[in-house]
Amino acid sequence: MLTSFLKLLRDPKATLSKDGKTLTFEGRKIPVRDDIPRFTPDESYSRGNFEKLREEHATLQFDSVNGTTDRHDTISDRTGWPPSFWKGKTVLECGCGAGPDTEILLNWGATVIAVDIAGLDIAKNNLKGHKKLQLVQASIIDLPFKEKSFDIVFCHRVLQHTPDPDETLHHMLKFVKNDGAIFIHSYANTWIQRLRWKYALLPFTRKVEPEKLYNFIKGYAPTAFKITNVLRKIPGGRVITHFLIPFLNYRHAKQFKPLTDERVIEIGVHDTFDALSPPYDNPMSAKRMRQIANQHVSRPFEIVERPMVTLMRTKI
Ligand SMILES: C[S@@+](CC[C@H](N)C(=O)[O-])C[C@H]1O[C@@H](n2cnc3c(N)ncnc32)[C@H](O)[C@@H]1O
Repeated sequence: MLTSFLKLLRDPKATLSKDGKTLTFEGRKIPVRDDIPRFTPDESYSRGNFEKLREEHATLQFDSVNGTTDRHDTISDRTGWPPSFWKGKTVLECGCGAGPDTEILLNWGATVIAVDIAGLDIAKNNLKGHKKLQLVQASIIDLPFKEKSFDIVFCHRVLQHTPDPDETLHHMLKFVKNDGAIFIHSYANTWIQRLRWKYALLPFTRKVEPEKLYNFIKGYAPTAFKITNVLRKIPGGRVITHFLIPFLNYRHAKQFKPLTDERVIEIGVHDTFDALSPPYDNPMSAKRMRQIANQHVSRPFEIVERPMVTLMRTKI
């Protein structure tokens, strides 16, 4: 276990057993498997959706595996911070998933405490060899850490997938030091987002057994890929694709240019299932994000409103 990890816990008396298999924390015995303390049960609302994706496509989103710089560029663009900013910082990553962002932050020289409610064994395997990493199975609505103890709180593509994003944001913001930095991402609560096929279909698709939904998307993906490629070339076709066709086709995206069609379809299957399966998908408006941030954050920050995403980031 990372030596600095115990010091970040809110229980100053927390201790790890000699065999490394139990953490005594606030009088509870927290099981530690494969060096990952498990503050929450293995079963969670992420089972069947995000966990399923991880099982099927463990490393798909890793820059180091897919040969793109997608994650690197997206984090740089959305935070507005240079890679050098992360060096030597202790980062709380809320909702790390399989770890594609974690890998970037570690490569930039950060120490990362990466939390997720599910699927951390896959992240562990993906990130093996990284020494400045501690994975923690916990809920970002009930984090076991001391308040104001992290240099950076980072939450990317997660907030909308928690049961109550307001409450989650209030909670996460407590963990950054007064002079620390924050990056929070949420899907934007805009009409261009809300009128998309996803929000019309979700009430039905989230009730479908995940295996069936996944296989169904996989089945129609090659056809949807061809149709959307043609549609993009005709006037108005992009609008039809965006609002009406339930398949995320990135063939036109600059960052995925080097990838084969097969790989782009695989990413499409992954992201379409990711769009249609989560039990929670509640985008947050820029106004709401600002209101909540104002209650917690003293260091200057900005809210960036884009058509599909809302970002909160510390000005550095
Ligand atoms: C769309 S994935 C994003 C993963 C990662 N940040 C990325 O960009 O690849 C959302 C993640 O949030 C996690 N998550 C949802 N609710 C959570 C909670 N209450 N506590 C911790 N993680 C949670 C899910 O398990 C899933 O891994």
